Amino acid sequence: MLQGKSVVLGVSGGIAVYKAVELLRLLTKAGADVHVIMTKNAREFVTPLTFQTLSGNPVHTDLFSLYQEHEIDHISLADRADLFILAPATANLIGKIAHGLADDLLTTSVMATKAPVLIVPAMNVNMYENPIYQRNEKQLIEFGYHLLEPVTGALACGWEGKGKMPSPEEIMAAAAGVFVPKDLLGHTILVTAGPTREELDPVRYISNYSSGKMGFAIATEARHRGAEVILIAGPTNLTAPAGVRYVPVVSAQEMREAVFDALERADVVIKAAAVADYHPVVRSTQKIKKTADDLTLQLEKNPDILAEIGQQKGGRIVVGFAAETERLLVHAAEKLKKKNLDLIVANDITKAGAGFDGDTNIVRLLHADGQVDELELMSKAAVAEKILNQVKRLLDNRK
Ligand code: PMT
Repeated sequence: MLQGKSVVLGVSGGIAVYKAVELLRLLTKAGADVHVIMTKNAREFVTPLTFQTLSGNPVHTDLFSLYQEHEIDHISLADRADLFILAPATANLIGKIAHGLADDLLTTSVMATKAPVLIVPAMNVNMYENPIYQRNEKQLIEFGYHLLEPVTGALACGWEGKGKMPSPEEIMAAAAGVFVPKDLLGHTILVTAGPTREELDPVRYISNYSSGKMGFAIATEARHRGAEVILIAGPTNLTAPAGVRYVPVVSAQEMREAVFDALERADVVIKAAAVADYHPVVRSTQKIKKTADDLTLQLEKNPDILAEIGQQKGGRIVVGFAAETERLLVHAAEKLKKKNLDLIVANDITKAGAGFDGDTNIVRLLHADGQVDELELMSKAAVAEKILNQVKRLLDNRK
């Protein structure tokens, strides 16, 4: 997505400047031609030489430098850019842009560009929560600037709260998302992901190998395409994609409750989660002791969340997954029909590169009218794109 793109990376002065160095490395690795503009304060944290070495381009710093202005820098950078990324963007920088102030090379370039601008704020939590800052941020979003919300955590100033710059990887994903057509704008997509855990006692549980990657890829792609996304996920090691409403759950019962709390708002449901089919009849409050030579667990069925949604789907588009080890098409087709789905994504989890945990999948898409699309091995992000193309087609046909 960023291959061959001309990106202006605007760096303003905050401790998160060090993360902008890694962001620059990822951008160049992705094939972008990156031109860095640093404010005076940014140069207090990291020298321009670091950015110059990693970008392979001169770093721009001064609006009135005769040497740097030989091409009227702020105009040539503004014209050349396919994308501006402001990371970290301080409250001061955001305030200036929101009020049309252009008093240095970065703010004049932002003002002069017609390229999309992705703002990545980073600041102290109290500054972030300040109503003046909040008003400025809102104003910029209304003007069409893209904004990647800061995350919550321990801040360099010693405070704990929202204001931390997201990871370079998350900024990369948001930058790629800027170029994706917003064809799902106006839709709310509920995605489930990951495994569920059914506890036996305080230290043990029944679960499966789902990492959540498939569902998170769908949530990320849906968000990039402009949808409101509600992501309900069992325990995973993944970070929720920026801009989605994230609801972490543990058990199938909790997932069911979260799904039905959100269902009313959703016009599309995609269930990529690997929900445990059974839970222990008794959850011991104390650790089960190793006394007997054998131990029998009594399990009872969990609610089939997808089947329940299928029964009351109304005008929604409902997409299920089927993880199979044999007779892939037969079992998937049965689930499609039984659960009243519009589409089912069938993965043969015995195949190398398919199913649980890895970054790739091999799937077949079974449609309600009997059509089957066979997809080759591809990244989970690419599978997500194909699934959402079908969802878009179904939404268009529904009109
Ligand atoms: O998370 P990853 O590591 O990336 O792996 C991806 C994946 C293999 C988990 C994913 O691609 C996948 O196949 N997910 C569905 C796995 C599964 O539970 O399949 P199933 O055949 O048991 O269930 C069929 C469908 O019913 C699924 O959409 C499931 O979410 C849903 N279901 C199942 C049981 C249940 N009690 N409630 C449900 O809603």
